[in-house]
Amino acid sequence: MTTLSNKKFHLAWFLNFITDDWQGTWGDGGRDWSGDFYVEMARDLERACFDYVIIEDKLMVSTAYGGTMEADLKHGVNPKHDPVPLAVLMTQATERLGVVPTMSTSFYPPFLLARLCATIDHIARGRFGWNIVTSAEDRAAQNFGMDRLYEHDERYAMATEYLDLVRQLWDSWEPDAVVRDQETGTYVDHTKVHVVDFVGKYYKSRGPLNTVRSPQGHPVLCQAGASAPGREFAARYADTIVATGSNPTRMKAYRDDIRAKLVAHGRNPDDCKVLFLMSPVVADTVEEAHAKKLRWMSEPRYIEMVLATMSSITEIDFSRFDLDAPLPAVTTNGERGFLEAFARRAEGKTLRQAVIEDGMSGTADFVGTPETVADRMAEIMEEVGGDGFLITSPEKKLNRRYVTEITDGLVPALMRRGVVRTSYTHERFRDNLLEF
Ligand SMILES: Cc1cc2nc3c(=O)[nH]c(=O)nc-3n(C[C@H](O)[C@H](O)[C@H](O)COP(=O)(O)O)c2cc1C
Repeated sequence: MTTLSNKKFHLAWFLNFITDDWQGTWGDGGRDWSGDFYVEMARDLERACFDYVIIEDKLMVSTAYGGTMEADLKHGVNPKHDPVPLAVLMTQATERLGVVPTMSTSFYPPFLLARLCATIDHIARGRFGWNIVTSAEDRAAQNFGMDRLYEHDERYAMATEYLDLVRQLWDSWEPDAVVRDQETGTYVDHTKVHVVDFVGKYYKSRGPLNTVRSPQGHPVLCQAGASAPGREFAARYADTIVATGSNPTRMKAYRDDIRAKLVAHGRNPDDCKVLFLMSPVVADTVEEAHAKKLRWMSEPRYIEMVLATMSSITEIDFSRFDLDAPLPAVTTNGERGFLEAFARRAEGKTLRQAVIEDGMSGTADFVGTPETVADRMAEIMEEVGGDGFLITSPEKKLNRRYVTEITDGLVPALMRRGVVRTSYTHERFRDNLLEF
């Protein structure tokens, strides 16, 4: 067992609200539209002391792969159900886990989003977070009355203004505004609730919010900002950043850059935790883990599914590329960070090899027994400096067995090394996140 500096790091999980493993031996057949599986999983994650779970989202059925909806629907890239009601159910089944659904600044009106976050943070007793995305697809824009999505950098300019506004709305109620004074018959002291009168380039709102200030005041703000404006945005506001990892050197450079940007914004660099995406494959022996990974990830339908998913988030038609040649140079108005990380991992490989070795989310480094993978995670964190990992299953391989392998195999191995928490110290999400 590797014993390192024993600095603790954080764990979170990234999931889709359907469809996950519906073809494998151990899946549920893709029939869980009720959310029961995910609620049960939230309890498992809490048992394993994860800091939080993110539920991803998109707002369109993509036609990017091959110019039709076929691959998107055939492989279950869609359907996707709304993550917010599921998040609420998860908060009711748990007591400490942070719950973080995705909502897009491009499509939610800021007032409604601010109100929704405040309301759920009350329901969650201070454990709600928002995964802030700007969305990445023209197809999504077309569902909201637009022909095209705003240009990449302008989306971040809009999101910056959006955050200024929603933060002012959350602050429009002072913490002690609700007095419930039976003598004077006063529920709320109106002098402690303030109009915001926000007038920006993109948004205008009078305020105040008509919602009581929530336990955390602001929900935990989570962001994935790999492009230059994305990093700038994250450094201003985020409590936690989710990033695609490639190799420890780049991960360290990314985290150092974010920390320097936080300082430039007058923030303490320890106030934002950078978690790197990874898809572990664990089994009883290293050989079994490699065999399992190869079985999963070399299937032709797996490769097409990954490429269809890549197409949906970048709007690049990956069906045009030769699987047995390197990925050509590509650019996108969509998810730049993801595309760049994938392209880096694909350097010197054919497209087929890149998918088989690493899938979408970085698997190559994390195949083995719980002990060997825990060692590797601890080593990487030691090299990078912190702050943790965002675990996700290889595409469409999430089932109860996979969850158990992580929560009852990998996490206990990490706990034995003293590198992750073994209990929660605080009741609220942000307090746990900032604990180390
Ligand atoms: C781990 C991770 C999870 C993400 N989840 C979502 C998501 O659920 N929905 C979405 O629209 N974008 C998602 N994104 C995309 C980002 O939030 C961001 O909008 C996108 O990466 C574009 O930013 P960039 O060009 O600065 O990288 C995710 C990105 C990463 C790295």
